Amino acid sequence: MNHRNNLIVLVCALGIFATIQEAQAIDWWQLGNTKVGPKQTLQEFHQYFQEKFPKMTLQQYALGSYAFSKPLYQQYQQAMEFNPGDLTLSQGKKLWESKFPNGKTYASCFAQGGKGVAAHYPYYDPKTHQVITAAMALNACRVANGEKPLRYGGSQLIALETYFVSLSNGMPTDVSVSGPGAVRAFEAGKAYYFMHRGQLNFSCASCHVAYAGKYLRAQIISPLLGQTAHYPTYRAAWGAVNTLQKRFVGCDKKVGAAPEKLQSQDYRDLDYFMTYINNGVKIEVPGYRP
Ligand code: HEC
Repeated sequence: MNHRNNLIVLVCALGIFATIQEAQAIDWWQLGNTKVGPKQTLQEFHQYFQEKFPKMTLQQYALGSYAFSKPLYQQYQQAMEFNPGDLTLSQGKKLWESKFPNGKTYASCFAQGGKGVAAHYPYYDPKTHQVITAAMALNACRVANGEKPLRYGGSQLIALETYFVSLSNGMPTDVSVSGPGAVRAFEAGKAYYFMHRGQLNFSCASCHVAYAGKYLRAQIISPLLGQTAHYPTYRAAWGAVNTLQKRFVGCDKKVGAAPEKLQSQDYRDLDYFMTYINNGVKIEVPGYRP
């Protein structure tokens, strides 16, 4: 019996369960350790949030900040009855089904015509040594069929991406990180997530891990877990559907840091890290956010 076990016996005998829980809890800052590898990182993140919010199921995290307030959740349910994002989805379907000059469509570029494919995005491509996102894959498909790539952040590409990702609706996020290059990209994304930056000197993790579930002015800060599976998402503040990376730009600005260009290597690595941590959360696109 070591000291720790003796302590646990003593604490149990006294009925001080809260103390024990704290002794076992994962320290959020420790989650940023880039030496433990992707699998353990994922387990620790899920465990951290489970300890923080013991009543929440994995799928409830997909609600983001709506999971933390009943009145907000009711507003969300109302909004989802007529999600304006569905218009973008239909626009994306039309684009997806329209033919390239050679007669082919986007479906020809993806296994199973794209069904279930986006659940595994972003992915690491060992040939080009980089993370490939849905937006990049769609543009590569255009180029392979003699068309010019679409502008990142433009409404056409967003609509296409929305439809492409919706072909995985209902499937759990299932991103793979295997091989040294993939692990390097994952760890770079993780380091970015924990790096303090901007005038406020906050990291993404300060807010979305340490302060998750708490109020920042009028908004409840959502946990990292659950943040990726509803993108592209409709946001009332944007009056449009937009991407996860668009959110990175907004949050970087919020803390006074210089945002990066959409699809920069940093943002793709970040996207890769965050989406991997969301493995298991079911995809439901387009989502809705205030
Ligand atoms: C000062 C606190 C703060 C920091 C730092 C911060 N955010 Fe946010 N973020 C917020 C708030 C507040 C919201 C809006 C409420 C919500 O949905 O979480 C938000 C929203 C988001 C969302 C949308 C969540 C959803 O459910 O759709 C994502 C994604 C996100 N942030 C990612 C990041 C990333 C990546 C970083 C680091 C580059 C970051 N945030 C840094 C406060 C912060």
